[in-house]
Amino acid sequence: DAAFVIAIDGPAAAGKGTLARRLADHYGFAFLDTGSLYRAVGLQMIIEGSDLDDAQKATETAARLDLGLIGDPRLRAEETGGAASRVAAVPGVRAALLDFQRQFAGHPPGDTAGAVLDGRDVGTVICPDAPVKLFVTASAEERARRRTLEMEGRGEAADYAAILEDVKARDARDMGRKDAPLKPAEDALLLDTTNLAIDAVFLRAKSFIDGKL
Ligand code: C5P
Repeated sequence: DAAFVIAIDGPAAAGKGTLARRLADHYGFAFLDTGSLYRAVGLQMIIEGSDLDDAQKATETAARLDLGLIGDPRLRAEETGGAASRVAAVPGVRAALLDFQRQFAGHPPGDTAGAVLDGRDVGTVICPDAPVKLFVTASAEERARRRTLEMEGRGEAADYAAILEDVKARDARDMGRKDAPLKPAEDALLLDTTNLAIDAVFLRAKSFIDGKL
């Protein structure tokens, strides 16, 4: 039997990661944070001192990606997120990461019956036939507020205005690129989390999914 795929897309800090983990946990499905792959490419380029605007270099780095970087604490840094969104605009990078993501969705590790993938183009490009597609959004201000609290929670210095600028710049890059731009799939359930707590978001997603299982 084909694995049951839940595709979750949306902009940075909208709450898709939290929702994806909870759903994977609830249904006993495998979970893949596809953003971590792009972050790993960005981080590898930073570590190797590569020019982030060099598309050829980015493509070549993605082709020999060190998956061990996915556990690296530097993966979550704002700088890495920025680098990720730059290399993610390179078609060669996206092509290099496509197979891994499709393999994961088609044959989730641990022999689970399904997989939850979160990212920007899971429902539109990676798994267009997924039975469940969710598009999770929130206002840029709310997402910047959450990022700020999250960083402060980790004891890091956080500047709301700078974070808001960064959120907006990343949105523009993710939505404006030619290859696999961030947008909801036609049949995606839209979940705006600006004024919705995670429990409410989870319940809404769960009832949608239970209707398709
Ligand atoms: O979700 P996260 O912030 O970890 O993603 C980092 C960057 O990776 C995003 O800003 C986006 O540019 C890119 N990305 C992507 N496609 C995905 C997942 C992430 O282009 N499926």
